Amino acid sequence: MTVEHTLTDAERLAELDAATLHRLVGLVEHDGSRDPFPVTGWDAVVWAVGNATQAALVHQVVHGMELVAYSGPETGNRDHQAYVLRSGAVRFELRGAVDPAGPVADHHRAHGDGIVDIALEVPDVDRCIAHARAHGATVLVEPHDLADEHGTVRTAAIATYGDTRHTLVDRSRYTGPYLPGYVARSSTVADRGPRLFQALDHVVGNVELGRMDTWVDFYRRIMGFTNMAEFVGDDIATDYSALMSKVVASGNHRVKFPLNEPSPGRRRSQIDEYLQFYGGPGVQHLALATDDILRTVDVLRSRGVEFLDTPAAYYDDPDLRARIGRVRVPIGELRSRGILVDRDEDGYLLQIFTKPVGDRPTVFFELIERHGSLGFGKGNFKALFEAIEREQERRGNI
Ligand SMILES: [Fe+2]
Repeated sequence: MTVEHTLTDAERLAELDAATLHRLVGLVEHDGSRDPFPVTGWDAVVWAVGNATQAALVHQVVHGMELVAYSGPETGNRDHQAYVLRSGAVRFELRGAVDPAGPVADHHRAHGDGIVDIALEVPDVDRCIAHARAHGATVLVEPHDLADEHGTVRTAAIATYGDTRHTLVDRSRYTGPYLPGYVARSSTVADRGPRLFQALDHVVGNVELGRMDTWVDFYRRIMGFTNMAEFVGDDIATDYSALMSKVVASGNHRVKFPLNEPSPGRRRSQIDEYLQFYGGPGVQHLALATDDILRTVDVLRSRGVEFLDTPAAYYDDPDLRARIGRVRVPIGELRSRGILVDRDEDGYLLQIFTKPVGDRPTVFFELIERHGSLGFGKGNFKALFEAIEREQERRGNI
């Protein structure tokens, strides 16, 4: 097997192949042997939430995810309960504090429900850490082995923006349900319906004013990521606020990190609101790739998920009509669901954004269906931000 076609453990379990991943998330061939920090793909997104027991139920009942593993007091973990769920190659670990004085409780008190760790699967943890350390990264956890009856996992962790970290995981010698210390656990929800999303497409970070280029440089220098084509600056401006955004990606484009910073506007931007309520930089949204966004949106809405409203005028705009050209479904089908369209030289994409998923106006989800475009919906940013500002206004935060 060549390096460029190596699948992650989660992708193999989801029975995804390279061609499907190319279509879903823009996977490209990449020679990892000359990469100073080769990254195979996403391993897991780890959340700290106020109530992991109930969040795990929501992810099963509403998002159709499958419960696969668990750690908690019964397994010797005195600090927190952790539920591991998956949908296709997307793996979430939800942590909720048991010990009120422990690190999960501290994280939740500071940030509300949020992402503590964007864990990445790598083929050589020690090589990555040696490169990261030599280029100035903060190593939070030194490389070490974790083992149980299912084998051995090599792991380490480095710090990124805010209180967020990247745990690096080499699970090539491991066959257990998740990691040593976790036990297999099957879903308590029998009927979860169809699989609503197949893979993680991108994870967006919000950082402070003036810090975006610092973090772009971090991912380039420490992790060997490259800038993706879609760079935007002052063109993401509404009447009230503006932001800057740049995108870095791993060599195979599986892992894509758009990074946003606020830029001074007439009023407080959505990024400022995020930074205030999250208590600093952190993950703003997770984009989940689906191959049928219409069905996914219909199912999620029927289960109570709320999406940002798209004004009818969006679909009547002749410029938009001209720009998007022909897409696979009639515009009326998109309009009735509030799904946005964007097109670039490579193709088009369909996307929609949920309202914040926790109590604070911070983290939310995007659903994305790509048809050749490797962009992030730049053409929709203005409409999207105006929709977010309407919500900000309702919250009294603008
Ligand atoms: Fe996005």
